[in-house]
Amino acid sequence: MRVGILTSGGDCQALNATMRGLVKALYQQRKDIEIIGFLKGYQGLMYEKYKKMSLSDFEDILNVGGTILGSSRCPFKKMRVIEDGFDKVEAMKKTYKKLKLDCLVVLGGNGSLKSANMLAQEGLNVIGLPKTIDNDTWGTDYTFGFQSAVDIATNYLNEIETTAKSHSRVFVVEIMGHKVGHICLQAGIAAGVDAILLPEIPYDIKVVAKKIKENQKTGKEYTIIACAEGAISEEDSLLSKKKYKAKVASRQGRSVAYEVAEQLQELIPNEIRVALAGHIQRGGNPCGYDRFMATRFGVYGANLLLNKDFGKLVVFDKNEIKAIPLSETAGKLKFVDPECEVVSSAKKMGITFGE
Ligand code: F6P
Repeated sequence: MRVGILTSGGDCQALNATMRGLVKALYQQRKDIEIIGFLKGYQGLMYEKYKKMSLSDFEDILNVGGTILGSSRCPFKKMRVIEDGFDKVEAMKKTYKKLKLDCLVVLGGNGSLKSANMLAQEGLNVIGLPKTIDNDTWGTDYTFGFQSAVDIATNYLNEIETTAKSHSRVFVVEIMGHKVGHICLQAGIAAGVDAILLPEIPYDIKVVAKKIKENQKTGKEYTIIACAEGAISEEDSLLSKKKYKAKVASRQGRSVAYEVAEQLQELIPNEIRVALAGHIQRGGNPCGYDRFMATRFGVYGANLLLNKDFGKLVVFDKNEIKAIPLSETAGKLKFVDPECEVVSSAKKMGITFGE
């Protein structure tokens, strides 16, 4: 049985742990396994860049971050675009057939899973495993990498707190998450911040300024604001998609945290600083929970493969590992529900969302 594996899109801490779970479970159950590891995501499949691998390649990687296969971003919207006469989809199908693969396992987030679904619709046997620190894949309560990122973001916020306190400053700390606020919400609560700004709950800067003033009245001279990279003001949330895109482009790469700081500075005299937690949120080794979940996801992927149950994404749903059709998740995002218990508990703790 010949299995191709690739890791696609932004990396995360538990990619290796997931591949290890998959491969070890396969070898436990069958001896005729051959693994083809494609290098740098879909690029490896397109350009026939791969290595033949065996069980030993996956033995010591449970607690190693990054990906032993490398990764790259191959945007879904460009997959069907022929560039310099090169047809990416046909090239991927050709490699799959040439190598006589029985299945392709894709460890990826939303864009990568859309491409996985496309390949499944093109007739390849594909299995998806839900990767991303953002935890925004529709159909699964959990994506591996998320808890490690939350832990790192939590520590980052806490470490900023000591310096914020010494200098009686306001800190706007930007947390990753692309278009959703799951990491920011959980890390913000875990770090005990004063304000959390999320893409799902547009903020009014005056409300945030009020919180800072209230802090001061009660003797707390510093304020920590956890700001998701996709945070949006009430005014901007009213813009059309096109106008908002233009607005983001006009920031010329400067992230939203700077805008929040500038808006705040017009309303309060305090010293404000911006800190970007950045890519360390995807760095380092997976936490225990991610190793645990990654192993379970991998083993379930192996079950699907051995049962020839293709075209599926392994998911975590109501405390159970199971699978859903790739077509069900493709193109959808899982957002923070502004009415959920987590948000309402945070509010009851006095955390403002700028509403
Ligand atoms: O999807 C993971 C993620 O880290 C997002 O949180 C972030 O928006 C993006 O990737 C950053 O991408 P890149 O590594 O390409 O800068």
